[in-house]
Amino acid sequence: MALPVSLERQRQWESKYHTGETGWDRGQPSPALRQWLADGLVPQGRVLVPGCGNGYEVLELTRAGHSVTAVDIAASPVMRLMGELASQGQHAKVIQTDLFQWTPAEPFDAVYEQTCLCALEPALWPDYVSLLCNWLLPGGKLFALFMQTGREGGPPYHSPIERMREIFHEDDWLWPETESVRVDHPTGLHELAYVLTRRGGAGEV
Ligand SMILES: C[S@@+](CC[C@H](N)C(=O)[O-])C[C@H]1O[C@@H](n2cnc3c(N)ncnc32)[C@H](O)[C@@H]1O
Repeated sequence: MALPVSLERQRQWESKYHTGETGWDRGQPSPALRQWLADGLVPQGRVLVPGCGNGYEVLELTRAGHSVTAVDIAASPVMRLMGELASQGQHAKVIQTDLFQWTPAEPFDAVYEQTCLCALEPALWPDYVSLLCNWLLPGGKLFALFMQTGREGGPPYHSPIERMREIFHEDDWLWPETESVRVDHPTGLHELAYVLTRRGGAGEV
């Protein structure tokens, strides 16, 4: 008998953590987040980290004083992150659930999207982008790291910027005028870092 979609996804991701197929895991916070924090670009307030994995960035954000909600479908990284938070005397709301089944009580000031989108089947991307839009307040910031693999298949799935501009459509998202920043990964892959703004904020022209 086939498992319901959510349980099947949970089983697949949990299995990757059990077998150590976690090539995406840097073992430390992304330099992109560190730079955004150092530049004061992450708004003080509520930050969501979807598909947080082991959550090094969650810890970095809490240490910087942000109120963080972290979500992942797999139990192992969620438990590990909860333990790390406790041992470091930090607090975050950590939720184990399928993002496609989850509605937060209120929207966020910022979302930190690191290799969650590229972990999803591209057919799910438009639905995921709608969720990101709903999770953010008007004027909220999306800190996005778009994975560049340059190859077919996945995960991680190649996330070409032309396709990102289609799904994060100008009607809903303000793209920066500045060039993206390249963020190298120990695997040899790299991401392109962008800060997008959810349209509809006060004072928008
Ligand atoms: C490629 S990993 C990235 C983890 C982390 N962001 C990082 O960069 O180290 C993708 C993460 O998304 C989680 N994930 C995948 N599909 C999900 C879903 N539908 N709902 C919640 N989490 C999901 C996986 O369990 C996994 O931890």
